[in-house]
Amino acid sequence: MTAQARSCRRALVVGGSTGIGRGVADAWADAGLDVLVLSRSAPAGAGAERLRWVATDLTDADRVAENLALATDEPLHAVCYSAVHYGDRRTLFRDCGEAEWRRQIDVNLHGLWLTLARTLPALRRTEAPGVFLGVSSEVVYNAGPGRSGYAASKAAAAALLDSIAQEESAEAAGGEAVRVVQALPAGMVDTPGIRRRRPEGFDYSTYMRPASFGPLARELAATAGAGLHGAHLVVDATGEWYPVSEGMPVSQSRTIAARAGS
Ligand SMILES: NC(=O)c1ccc[n+]([C@@H]2O[C@H](COP(=O)([O-])OP(=O)(O)OC[C@H]3O[C@@H](n4cnc5c(N)ncnc54)[C@H](OP(=O)(O)O)[C@@H]3O)[C@@H](O)[C@H]2O)c1
Repeated sequence: MTAQARSCRRALVVGGSTGIGRGVADAWADAGLDVLVLSRSAPAGAGAERLRWVATDLTDADRVAENLALATDEPLHAVCYSAVHYGDRRTLFRDCGEAEWRRQIDVNLHGLWLTLARTLPALRRTEAPGVFLGVSSEVVYNAGPGRSGYAASKAAAAALLDSIAQEESAEAAGGEAVRVVQALPAGMVDTPGIRRRRPEGFDYSTYMRPASFGPLARELAATAGAGLHGAHLVVDATGEWYPVSEGMPVSQSRTIAARAGS
């Protein structure tokens, strides 16, 4: 592929202003893709000027549909969904309100559904298969107290993506129409969403950085996910990845006694 053809490739990152999504957006911009970010706040800091951005609140489904329509008027080569609503702190089910549950469903699951509905046709319009990267979590395998909404919404998101991966395999003869890959960090990642839940002065030195997702994102940009379709990949701090079947990520679930303040 020529440099000119590569520079025309387009990518979308929903939840790409900060955290892991930002790590993916930066890596795709490094790889020469024209990257559009949808999130409430604009990407900031080094490299932000390379990213296009449209303000989007995933709890406003009408606006999300409008902005996704803008993003999908031309073929897309790569899409990442990394938006998340964690909640302020771990909260037992009996203390969670319906509003918080709905927010987790809107951001962690329904936004993903809307993104898939709008972007799969645009990903199918490319000559090579397009690639859809879903950012998953250890909580899919490690449900625990105080995180029922997060666990349920992330597990449903993983099942949604698994189902679509199977449909995409069936859709194209001898390959995949769109390649669907899920990736999750091996441990905790230092991101704004996590920092909002930690006390001042917390030591993040053992935490991963969003840039650890850069090598996998660049691989997906270079190969459109060839050989990785349907995989659940654990990404470690060095940027290496391996199938979740070869090693489960560290569980972040805690017993009720140990979870206070986490
Ligand atoms: N960090 C970890 O340790 C960790 C561990 C396991 C899995 N994960 C997974 O990694 C993914 C990203 O998490 P992160 O820690 O990187 O989070 P983060 O830094 O908080 O980033 C979350 C992204 O979602 C966007 N977002 C949140 N609410 C939104 C809304 N209502 N409308 C539009 N955009 C919204 C944020 O943008 P705005 O605030 O600008 O809207 C931001 O771009 C999630 O899928 C999470 O489950 C993270």
